[in-house]
Amino acid sequence: MSFRAGHLVTTVNDSKERLAELTRQCLPVMLPLYHGISLLCPSYLQLLQKRDATAVCDEDEPDRIARGGGEVGWGERMTIYEAYARVYDRSGQIGFALKMLPYLDEVLARHAFIGDSAVDVACGSGTLALGLAQRGWRVYGVDASPAMLAQARHKAAELDQPAAVTWLQADMRDFSLPQAVDLATSTYDSLNYLLTLDDLCRAFRCVARALRVGGLFVFDMNAEPAFLRQWHDATYFIEDQDLAIVIKSTYDDEARRATATITGFVRQGELYERFQETHTEGAYSRAEVAAGLEASGFQVVASYACFTFDVADDDSPRILWVARKAPVWEERRA
Ligand SMILES: C[S@@+](CC[C@H](N)C(=O)[O-])C[C@H]1O[C@@H](n2cnc3c(N)ncnc32)[C@H](O)[C@@H]1O
Repeated sequence: MSFRAGHLVTTVNDSKERLAELTRQCLPVMLPLYHGISLLCPSYLQLLQKRDATAVCDEDEPDRIARGGGEVGWGERMTIYEAYARVYDRSGQIGFALKMLPYLDEVLARHAFIGDSAVDVACGSGTLALGLAQRGWRVYGVDASPAMLAQARHKAAELDQPAAVTWLQADMRDFSLPQAVDLATSTYDSLNYLLTLDDLCRAFRCVARALRVGGLFVFDMNAEPAFLRQWHDATYFIEDQDLAIVIKSTYDDEARRATATITGFVRQGELYERFQETHTEGAYSRAEVAAGLEASGFQVVASYACFTFDVADDDSPRILWVARKAPVWEERRA
């Protein structure tokens, strides 16, 4: 997740007054929620009913469910990409996948890659997966968050042009596909959500197993310059007509972990529902990512400063990796 791009984003490091003013404006409508009084308000009941409807819809989904444990909060109870999922696209985050799609076209053309089946790993609200499907790919969209997948399914159902995407709820460290695909993608620093090198390699191995030999894995990751320059000690504010989100983030360079607390207020009738989620990302050096890929059955083809074709270097905040599944992987498994 990046907090830099997007027309809805305003940094408030230099504008604390603005935040104070907004808080003052919102406070009268937020207070009832804080005190629970609004539980009796019809609009809040409506919200609860909507939540039940979503849960029923998820249970009805026939897709495979495979959840792993680990450090990222995907366990008995989902702790991130829950309430945030409902506003993810309209808070401006959809912009990343929309920007990635034409860049991905160029990356595939530059590497003369042709295929017709793909998996988008950590597909989130499905924008990239749906974009690939509209380009003629048969696509699997894999994500651990039921709420993000619910958004993806909803978006797919709204499209004029049908898109061939099969949604799978699964942990990216522990998923498998019914059949091997030509292309794997994972975008918007989703892989940074894996907090140990071991977990990152588990995901790489899963992706390798999901690909045919010679298949391409294209993904981006945040590198340390992003955490130092964009995440450390930063506060961002996102505002829409019925939405206000404050993101406060920090980076621990010893632990090499970045943490963002996302606090949102989403208008529901006359009131605002408040949610809060804490997201943590891990930093990996280019050498670690390259070694992890090679140990997991890939050959590194290229690493670019994301959204360009300049070779990535120590100063690149976001890196776009292109890796090919090596034939040796099949031999190792045999
Ligand atoms: C920043 S969002 C990116 C979503 C999408 N790729 C995009 O470009 O908008 C990160 C996504 O990673 C997913 N995610 C995080 N950890 C995961 C895990 N261990 N397994 C599967 N999905 C995971 C989250 O549910 C979320 O949808």
